[in-house]
Amino acid sequence: MEFVEQLKSQVDIVQVIGENVRLRRVGAGPRYVGLCPFHNEKTPSFSVHSQHQFYKCFGCGAGGDVIKFVMEIDSLPFWEAVKYLAERNGIPLPKRSEAADEETRRRGVLYEMHDLALEHFRQNLFGPGGEEARAYLQRRGVTRETAEAFGLGLSERGGQALTRLLQRRNYAPADLEACGLVLMRNDGSGFFDRFRYRLMFPIHSEMGKVIGFGGRALAEGDEPKYLNSSETPIYRKSHVLYNLNRARKAIQEAGFGVLVEGYMDVIGVYAAGVSNVVATCGTALTAAQVRSLKRHSTSVVVNFDPDNAGEQATERSSQVLLEEGMRLKVLQLTDGLDPDEFIKSHGAGTYVQALEKSRGYFHWLADRARARFDARTPEGKVSIFQFLLPAIHRMPDKIERLSVANDLADYMGIQPGLVLDEFRKAASERREQRNRAREESSLDPNEVLLLHALMTSAEARAELAPALRTMEGVRRFRSAKVFDTLLRLVEAGEEISLGAVEGRLEESDRSLLLNVLFDDELLRDGVSMEQAAACLRQLSAGEHRLGRDHLRKSIKDAERTGDFPEALRLMNELRDLEREG
Ligand code: UTP
Ligand code: MN
Repeated sequence: MEFVEQLKSQVDIVQVIGENVRLRRVGAGPRYVGLCPFHNEKTPSFSVHSQHQFYKCFGCGAGGDVIKFVMEIDSLPFWEAVKYLAERNGIPLPKRSEAADEETRRRGVLYEMHDLALEHFRQNLFGPGGEEARAYLQRRGVTRETAEAFGLGLSERGGQALTRLLQRRNYAPADLEACGLVLMRNDGSGFFDRFRYRLMFPIHSEMGKVIGFGGRALAEGDEPKYLNSSETPIYRKSHVLYNLNRARKAIQEAGFGVLVEGYMDVIGVYAAGVSNVVATCGTALTAAQVRSLKRHSTSVVVNFDPDNAGEQATERSSQVLLEEGMRLKVLQLTDGLDPDEFIKSHGAGTYVQALEKSRGYFHWLADRARARFDARTPEGKVSIFQFLLPAIHRMPDKIERLSVANDLADYMGIQPGLVLDEFRKAASERREQRNRAREESSLDPNEVLLLHALMTSAEARAELAPALRTMEGVRRFRSAKVFDTLLRLVEAGEEISLGAVEGRLEESDRSLLLNVLFDDELLRDGVSMEQAAACLRQLSAGEHRLGRDHLRKSIKDAERTGDFPEALRLMNELRDLEREG
């Protein structure tokens, strides 16, 4: 067996996906459902099949095997996903030559360099040169235990230490240039360290690999205060949430995540016992980051700094969060303190209490609007509501939108009728869009039933495949390529499995096939031989009708050109057909 097949047969897709998505088993059957990690939804249309070892989302069409899942969720190339699964499951990889393409090799090298840098920084911090940095941590209330849990470190002043370390390991200049930790001198004569005398925070991928660093300046006046690794093939800033690797389980358990601004906030909050905390770390929150959070919970408390910049960041982030269908609350701490400072001056317990009391986003927003408009006058009320409407419309879920709007109308003392009108308009627009999308993707009922029967029953294949192979109607199906692939395999006497068929299909056809196979009703009821045979009859009746129409037209043509022998021959043929049909 080919290695990849062997790997797939040994890992359990339900378990692998279950670590990223909360799954629920459907009855006692082989199917599990959950919220799709690849698009934004409120009700689960993401389905994992333990027997076929496939996943499929009926909302966005994402689907595939366990390798595809790991590739998509962690943005990994094929071989790296294979490697990840193999290592995790203790399955030895084949010789390097088989598994190595240039991209995988490069990424492997980058991970190695990051592991080396992590260890190097750590030794600096806890070694003799780290005294000042350790005192700094102490002043900020970070214990040795916490520092070690977060892998904190220190980069050296001289700007050469890491570069030399990497060079001693004989990394190629191209790899040094790609790693994001060292910089090329302007004159091209060599490299120097990107981070000099900074407190180093390792940044992990969700799966727990070190992919980059953030560094806080320790020397007075050193700018910028925080510096991150540059983007590399393993570090895509817009995709990473700081601390998600440690927080993901706690987020699932708590049922919500806490989103803060910075590294020190995460560390302070985490050390206070709130371990479901993540941060964006200097970039504006992106949809990709929200999705990685949403796989673990659909609720979040946003706890940014209570200054102007923090408020603006809260509003901006909220837009993204709402669009992705998250429920959100806002925690604004008192005394102008950020989470880290607040815990230090008020204690962990007070912070947890504040967290529990955080307000719904819309009430937070309404209060901001009230500060801007006069809520006592009718005009002011309308202005406030108009201020809030865009944010409400950003919510993808209809019922949620309505309930928020009503709630706010109530809060502001506005007529609910006004609100409802506004919403009817938006709702009908959405409905039209959805119907259009559905029409475009629908398959003929015959094609659905036949495909399902052929994929799941050897009897159906034996009975139906030869006839289908010659039918013109099959070539007009939207899934014609799937039929073609499947029927060829049957004809060649190959074993039919989902893997065998889907592996030969392009993405869009694969998606068609998976849609049919994972159809809830079909999975429950199956397709009987009688049903399948009826589909075939219907198809062939259509075929005959077309054939007769075609013959009649040819007869007319022959008569018109005076070719009577041909017309006669065709008429006989038509009579034969009519007798059969
Ligand atoms: P803050 O300036 O609020 O950081 O920036 P902080 O965590 O409170 O810093 P301390 O307490 O002074 O150490 C919040 C986050 O914004 C990013 C960093 O990720 C930081 O953690 N940031 C800030 C930058 O990327 N660059 C900067 O110059 C400043
Ligand atoms: Mn701070």
